[in-house]
Amino acid sequence: MPAARLAGASSWRMIPWVMSMKAISNDTDLDVQIWRGRAQGRFERYRVPRRANQTVLDVVTWVQRHREPALAYRFACRVGVCGSCAMTVNGKPRWTCRTHVARVASDGRLRVAPLRNLPVIKDLATDMTPFFEKWQRAGGRFAGDQTRADPLARVEPDSPARQQVDAGIECINCGVCTAACDVVAWRDDYLGPAALNRAWTLVNDVRHVERSDLIRKVAANGGCHSCHTQGGCAEHCPVGLNPTAAISGLKRMTLLSLLGLGHETTGEEHGVVATRSETPLPRGEREGPTITK
Ligand code: SF4
Ligand code: SF4
Ligand code: FES
Repeated sequence: MPAARLAGASSWRMIPWVMSMKAISNDTDLDVQIWRGRAQGRFERYRVPRRANQTVLDVVTWVQRHREPALAYRFACRVGVCGSCAMTVNGKPRWTCRTHVARVASDGRLRVAPLRNLPVIKDLATDMTPFFEKWQRAGGRFAGDQTRADPLARVEPDSPARQQVDAGIECINCGVCTAACDVVAWRDDYLGPAALNRAWTLVNDVRHVERSDLIRKVAANGGCHSCHTQGGCAEHCPVGLNPTAAISGLKRMTLLSLLGLGHETTGEEHGVVATRSETPLPRGEREGPTITK
């Protein structure tokens, strides 16, 4: 993943900006509220010029460049590849670089907050450390038994196991699903949809040699059996992945393992199928229910 830029870290001179508290959206300007501070911060209001094909990231960048040089937020690729620009936009977790203002703020009002369920570093930048620590706890690191001297492993693209992996492999660790998950909000120890989706791709990887260790980790307290199967993660994932289905696969696999029915096999061999969800909208522009910050 490219290194994300943390905007607002410069010491540019602050420009004072006094805003009226009444609605300030009109045909030429947007009425924008942006979270400032840490967990105990507040929303500040800005008037931002409307532009054709404007994204939410464009709006945040405009505010940082023209009104609040110290505004902190994160982005890198601006094209839906790195996953670093995720924020809460009018109540929903989204990639801001792929979210067009015209689609989410037809009344000209935008409220932009940091991603839910992660500590806030400053303004719109969240600390992703707990997110990646859960990856580690779920056993999300590949372990093979081949050396550089061995021939390349051959995995047939149309093999059932490979297709299971394909269904979840394109996760870019944006954290949108984690922000959408109520169980993550309730339970600090819950591994969450991204880490469990990663575990599902590994457990179906025929080259992975730590499958039983992985199954033990995802079956532990706070693992896959804590998922309530509400599907908020799948509804919001901008890539169209379906962590809910992946977690269902893990639940079934861990139960079979508990019954001694074998766990040294892939999900497909257990009749577990995790499909990729339909993507009715362009990449990065999926809809999901509004969540509370
Ligand atoms: S599963 Fe989707 S929403 Fe969750 S981190 Fe991966 S790409 Fe982002
Ligand atoms: S399906 Fe499970 S992981 Fe996904 S949002 Fe619901 S509780 Fe969270
Ligand atoms: S900036 Fe990379 S996904 Fe938005």
